[in-house]
Amino acid sequence: DKGGHKHFMAKEIAEQPHVIGEALNHYLTADGTGINVPESLPDFRGVERLVLVACGTAYYACVTAKYWFERIARLPVEVDIASEFRYREPPVTDGTVALFVSQSGETADTLAALRYCADKAAHVVSVVNVPESSIARESGTALPILAGVEVGVASTKAFTCQLTVLYLLALKAAQQRGHLDADALTDRLSALRSLPGILNHALAQDRSAKKVARKLAEADDILFLGRGLMYPLAMEGALKLKEISYIHAEAYASGELKHGPIALIDKRMPVVVMAPKDKLFDKTVSNMQEVMARGGKVTLITDEAGLDEAGDGVTNTLVMPTVPDDLAPILYAIPAQQLAYHTAIAKGTDVDQPRNLAKSVTVE
Ligand code: M6R
Repeated sequence: DKGGHKHFMAKEIAEQPHVIGEALNHYLTADGTGINVPESLPDFRGVERLVLVACGTAYYACVTAKYWFERIARLPVEVDIASEFRYREPPVTDGTVALFVSQSGETADTLAALRYCADKAAHVVSVVNVPESSIARESGTALPILAGVEVGVASTKAFTCQLTVLYLLALKAAQQRGHLDADALTDRLSALRSLPGILNHALAQDRSAKKVARKLAEADDILFLGRGLMYPLAMEGALKLKEISYIHAEAYASGELKHGPIALIDKRMPVVVMAPKDKLFDKTVSNMQEVMARGGKVTLITDEAGLDEAGDGVTNTLVMPTVPDDLAPILYAIPAQQLAYHTAIAKGTDVDQPRNLAKSVTVE
């Protein structure tokens, strides 16, 4: 049942405020000042290193989480794609917690990477959508993301629910490791509580995203740029777009632009820049100006303050509500999804069942 939407993907994009609210209800204590985790989860005080492993969109959730765990919980994090990790023979010591993220819980490479760690790591944790899946069953602790069934091959609500659970886990780790006092935690949790309402505002920008997407649909190649927490989001935006519109898209950390990809810039290749007005904004904007100086056509996804400061000369803008820096990835996932969705519609491709792809990749 598509619930009145044309595609499952549109339905699942629209469901995000609700399912994130469900995840918050599950993980936050009744008074809203604490985070409930299963007793089997180890105390992060004794953890030396966290290893995050996944494939595809779930991997981009892991890359985002690396920034959170390192910055907020001061915990060293390694992040890798499951198909690389499993054959690298990486040393995994008993001070390591190995964490696997998977919507289906059946991805072959992720499961094999989990099995590689099972007898080496101190503890195996998974963040999954399907609670009875192999990955959930074989983990010491399985944390559900509570996104509900996701039908569209392009992952949308599972991604933002993965981000929500990983962020809560980073906060829990920060609290246990003495890097977040009770007041700071309460502030962060109340900001998180208001996120579903804010996501509704982002969803309401759908028509603007559709207009931009009509132009993107004419391109053969599209570049996505972001820095810090927006770098994994740029990768997610590019993946979503190529999966369902079949347009070649690539993402770069904006600081990498002058190390090669700037040679590609011309007026025929649209560049999508994801940049809320955070501490790295000015750096990203100077990269964006280098693109525009070479005739590149920029779509800037930012907030009001970012628009005021850097909107001049930009071809298209999508303006997001203002949120605390650490919550921006969950919010900016929405325009990334909307752009991919409407570009695919403009191209007439099969949005829910893109060619060559399966929802669950159970062979390597
Ligand atoms: O079920 P999983 O989360 O383990 O799947 C991982 C990837 O196959 C998946 O995220 C894939 O990249 C999606 N089609 C992305 O939209």
